[in-house]
Amino acid sequence: MATIAPERPQARTSPKAHEALREHLEHHPDDRLVHPNKWDVSRSDIYYEDRWQPIFKEMREAGPLHYIPESPFGPYWAVVQHKAIQHIEALPELFSSSWEYGGITILERPTDAQLAETGRERNELPMFIAMDRPKHTGQRRTVASKFTPGEITKMEAEVRQRTSELLDSLPRGEVFDWVDKVSIELTTGMLAILFGFPWEDRRLLTFWSDWSGDTELATVRELDEMRWEILHEMAAYFQSLWMEKAQGEGGDDLISMMIHSEAMSQMSPQEFMGNLVLLIVGGNDTTRNTMSGIIHSFDKFPDQRKLFEENPDLIPNAVQECIRYQTPLAHMRRTATQDTEVFGQQVKKGDKLILWYLSANRDEEVFDNPDKLDITRENARRHISFGYGIHRCVGARLAELQLRILLEEMHKRRMRVHVAGDVERVRANFVHGFRKLEVEITSF
Ligand code: HEM
Repeated sequence: MATIAPERPQARTSPKAHEALREHLEHHPDDRLVHPNKWDVSRSDIYYEDRWQPIFKEMREAGPLHYIPESPFGPYWAVVQHKAIQHIEALPELFSSSWEYGGITILERPTDAQLAETGRERNELPMFIAMDRPKHTGQRRTVASKFTPGEITKMEAEVRQRTSELLDSLPRGEVFDWVDKVSIELTTGMLAILFGFPWEDRRLLTFWSDWSGDTELATVRELDEMRWEILHEMAAYFQSLWMEKAQGEGGDDLISMMIHSEAMSQMSPQEFMGNLVLLIVGGNDTTRNTMSGIIHSFDKFPDQRKLFEENPDLIPNAVQECIRYQTPLAHMRRTATQDTEVFGQQVKKGDKLILWYLSANRDEEVFDNPDKLDITRENARRHISFGYGIHRCVGARLAELQLRILLEEMHKRRMRVHVAGDVERVRANFVHGFRKLEVEITSF
């Protein structure tokens, strides 16, 4: 029996997540998180002010992982060396990603008692990044079929056309915000195409991604409640889109593919929703912040920009090096499922381990002169920005494609982009990137 798709619901588009947080802290300065431990790298000011580098360096010199007994996110192990992160990610039975233990970010999962005390409901969206085997395997496989080398090649022409049009539309001789005009526009547009999402509403994807990925904001109860309201609005929007597509013939966009695939019938509506959120956030902030990171790091290392201008053959390696240097997600989290020893440290069942990719990508044991951008770096591919093991990023090839094409099309146009105004970073310990990057275009 055919179902009738309901009218797509109206979803709000304001306030922006970072503006809500800024305003809240202006009126409630006491809610600002206090960090007495100098190695508590959960504090977002060090990312906002871009001064995390010496702290992690000191920690790496002292050992692969350190126990931080107190933080606004509770106690945790800070895992800071490359080899220790790979070791932990290679043992998914021992170090779980499951949402049942708290999932993949540093955020605490409220206990039943805490929820009862505050009268709040448990809000959870199950998604396969926060699942263990065997459930993870089947769901990942369904989505992964859209990211095979063959599928990525099919997307290349469209990505190139959109990138070209956008670059041709950029103002010359005028300062503008690269984050808004380029990074957000290209990544959001790509996701809209991938999902078969209504084009005119595509900026909703950015709005939702910002609200759901903001770990700092989630520590303020009032804002966390608003965050969940917004996520429920998103779920309602996707629900109606799902119903529209379920009645269709089954196009080759990702949502239609998931609906009509055999494995999909195994997923509950919540899981379907959870996995869509995963794809939106996974593909949005990350690629966006690399697109901004490329421009910022080329400006900081003009010798490397020159090298790129003179040697377009270096573009594929430059993409890897920029992903290493930027590290768009600062961390992932695992939870120990039993007592165990990790590099001489006694980790207890239930302990939270925060894998600081940002630190591993600057590990002197793996990368020479790691704080320098070097687009000829031979082992740039050893970066851990996409993670490692069974959860390694499923969208990595798509991200690499978008970044390579951006650089190729900039090169074709002999476009040089200078930082020419305000640079504002994201105030968060999870998403690592730029809120604003004012630039001006010249030629080489
Ligand atoms: C530069 C861009 C990107 C970065 C740095 C990045 C980073 C990551 C990281 C760190 C993980 C977790 C890995 C782990 O736990 O070991 C991950 C997983 C994932 N990413 Fe990405 N990502 C990027 C782009 C994308 C794109 C474009 C998509 C899709 C549109 C995507 C979808 C996913 C999904 C679905 C997962 C879950 C995989 C699993 O649990 O098996 N990502 N990504």
